Amino acid sequence: MRLAKFLAHAGVASRRAAEEIIREGRVTVGGTIVTDPAHGVDDDGADDVAVDNRPVGIKDTKSVWLVHKPSGVVSTAKDTHNRRTVVDMVDSPRTRLYPVGRLDADSTGLILLTDDGDLANRLTHPRYEVPKTYVVSVGRGGIAVPEQELRRLREGVELDDGMTLPADVRQLRPGVLQITLREGRKRQVKRMCAEIGHPVHRLQRVAFGPLRLGDLGEGRVRRLSPAEVQRLRDAGARPGPVTG
Ligand code: URA
Repeated sequence: MRLAKFLAHAGVASRRAAEEIIREGRVTVGGTIVTDPAHGVDDDGADDVAVDNRPVGIKDTKSVWLVHKPSGVVSTAKDTHNRRTVVDMVDSPRTRLYPVGRLDADSTGLILLTDDGDLANRLTHPRYEVPKTYVVSVGRGGIAVPEQELRRLREGVELDDGMTLPADVRQLRPGVLQITLREGRKRQVKRMCAEIGHPVHRLQRVAFGPLRLGDLGEGRVRRLSPAEVQRLRDAGARPGPVTG
């Protein structure tokens, strides 16, 4: 990779500004000053690059990726049946990424991947109650779910692992619900809907904390900007109110 690009990827400066810094003689590679922005360096930071004598390495930069998971792709880091995983969807040769929480194999939508274990723990720990929003189709033939059953979903449903916390639930159109949960038990949305007699036949996660799936196409991935990562960190920094 070109040295200027390497510095830009490492977050030192924009590509243009990195070229300037290099020309000014402030950059060393393996201890030797290099003034050519096109000088080739190893992609994974193995070449001992320093700016103003301070080491820089892409490998030190944590990354978070937003993935639009298609149906049939599993969200574990490795699948025992050799199915495609969400980790396979991101090209990340330098660092090993892990999914933040789970989506069922037949669910679609937003899942995050990161190499920042601390951030992943905070975003999935029940204490922080980071909201996750799902759009689900229930039943068949677009039949509306009656208001009293929506109210049960909102107020709490008794599942075999206990009552669910209050949830935000809106019927977007007959038989299509938008559900926001502040907890993340296994197959929770499906179990809640089955419990009120409206089994889910399509489930998509559309938001995770401050992030939206937006118009990112199914099967597409994008790396979060530093500002988006900061908003995520803020979401995982405030414990929710203590309930029950
Ligand atoms: N709830 C479910 O039931 N399934 C998912 O994939 C995510 C939330």
